[in-house]
Amino acid sequence: MSSSVSELKIAVIYHSNYGHTKRVAEAIAQGAKQQLVVVKTLDIHDMDWAFVDSAQMLIFGSAVYMGSVTADFKAFMDETSQRWFHRQWQGKWAAGFANSGGLSGDKLSVLQQICLFAMQHGMNWAGFPTMPTGHTPTDINRLSSFMGLMTQSVDGPPEQTPCVGDIETAQLFGQHLAQLLVAQPPQNDMTVQE
Ligand SMILES: Cc1cc2nc3c(=O)[nH]c(=O)nc-3n(C[C@H](O)[C@H](O)[C@H](O)COP(=O)(O)O)c2cc1C
Repeated sequence: MSSSVSELKIAVIYHSNYGHTKRVAEAIAQGAKQQLVVVKTLDIHDMDWAFVDSAQMLIFGSAVYMGSVTADFKAFMDETSQRWFHRQWQGKWAAGFANSGGLSGDKLSVLQQICLFAMQHGMNWAGFPTMPTGHTPTDINRLSSFMGLMTQSVDGPPEQTPCVGDIETAQLFGQHLAQLLVAQPPQNDMTVQE
């Protein structure tokens, strides 16, 4: 069953202790909203499961803790096991983002964890095809990540860090994902309506 654009929903689901990953989630949502789809940013501690279950695309993001998703984000992943068992998210689009203090910070490990999680659910992974424009704080995709979005924050307020290039990259990531969803909505309605 195909959906009209106004029926398409994206959930940006994240865990952020100090607000930096949250700011990235909001920038992704801002970019995605340009496509007129319905977008919600959801803190894992304040979930709207009905919205998530009815959305056609889920974008997952975590701060990097010890080279991994945070313990809180892992608890969220484990909480979805009944949905996994009943294949409730099968056929939805999935994408991922990771924020860390280090330039590398082992963010790839987090994107791989999130991708594997999405594969367990039978979702379809969407990467990030946008080429880096360079490697300075004003550049797009300065960390050269294609599996998903990588951003980096230093010890400062979320209004100042991640840098402007990372925030613009997050907006482009959201825009790209929403364009993808509009162009290729899941064909069979596998989402569970409450
Ligand atoms: C317990 C702990 C472990 C961390 N491990 C890493 C790490 O492995 N790599 C890294 O680059 N940054 C690491 N950091 C820094 C966080 O990634 C950074 O503070 C976080 O992304 C900020 O996002 P937030 O404001 O959304 O919480 C760690 C921070 C804490 C508190």
